[in-house]
Amino acid sequence: MEEPKKRMLSGIQPSGDLHLGNYLGAIKNWSSRVDEYECFYFMADLHTITVRQEPAELRRRSLHQLAQYIACGLDPEKNVLFLQSMVPQHAQLAWVLNCYTMFGELSRMTQFKDKSAKHKDNINAGLFTYPALMAADILLYQADYVPVGEDQKQHVELTRDIATRFNSIYGDVFKVPEPLIAKTGARIYGLTTPGDKMSKSVPDGCVFLMDDPDTIARKFKRAVTDSDTENPVRYDRENKPGVANLMNIYSTLTGKTFEEIEAEFAGKGYGVFKPAVGEVVIDAMRPIREEAERLIKDKAYLEDVYRKGAEHASYVANKTLRKVYKKVGFYQI
Ligand code: TYM
Repeated sequence: MEEPKKRMLSGIQPSGDLHLGNYLGAIKNWSSRVDEYECFYFMADLHTITVRQEPAELRRRSLHQLAQYIACGLDPEKNVLFLQSMVPQHAQLAWVLNCYTMFGELSRMTQFKDKSAKHKDNINAGLFTYPALMAADILLYQADYVPVGEDQKQHVELTRDIATRFNSIYGDVFKVPEPLIAKTGARIYGLTTPGDKMSKSVPDGCVFLMDDPDTIARKFKRAVTDSDTENPVRYDRENKPGVANLMNIYSTLTGKTFEEIEAEFAGKGYGVFKPAVGEVVIDAMRPIREEAERLIKDKAYLEDVYRKGAEHASYVANKTLRKVYKKVGFYQI
């Protein structure tokens, strides 16, 4: 008998438009694995309301994000694509897992510390218990692998701890998942702030998937580097973070090693290097943007994709939820 395919699952919050960090850290690694695995990818819209959202904007971004997933190569016939809020089992399992997640564990989460520092006027309970919802997202599907950028590793590790704890009480209910973190691209820094990860909150240093070529070129021309004129293009994360970040982007998109990149730009300055990185990004983003623009116009198609995706996801998720309900002592619906 043929072995069942392993499962891969990941999600992105539609709290902003998708950017190069999301693409290189996560999505790029999703689409390359479709034939080997059964894949579930979703818009983590339940997570976004831990920070106040404008409702119409959230709806727009969720739909546009779906279009961009497909444009990045995630064929809805081969991947289950859905909106998290349309699959009620996520919230149902999250409640149960909240009761198996410790206050101390949640207090140690870096994302909670960062976001509560940034949104001091709205440190709500959801922001704090968010990792239990993320654990539910993953464990509902008995996912083997969770491809994410480095900043999400801590949450996947907590998910493993929650699953192990639950299993130790009730027997083998959950598959304990592994984070899958790319060798390059797992942490992309802002072009204007190479000490901080690329994020939509600094738009000048953030390249969005839907940016047009001129905008991308401009952002790369303005990328922060350093005053080294002797031997500028070389990899030194500590002392030359801006250049290291650009080399990382270039390497992830071209497949070239850092040594190859150093050789390619030997004797050349940033005036040549920065636009060259921009060009590679423009070439990679162009087909994605064009396809996403085409799909965004076809709302009926996108609705059909997320409806079917939610139906499929819900069917799989319900199997796990039923098991959990039985184990903890609830009656079956
Ligand atoms: P989110 O929405 O912040 O980011 C989505 C994905 O993009 C990666 N990423 C980056 N990778 C490299 N460099 C960057 N600058 C960068 N910025 C973001 C993230 O690591 C992530 O893989 N909690 C999650 C969403 C989520 C989820 C899940 C993920 C909810 N449920 C279940 C996996 C499985 C989050 O906030 O990611």
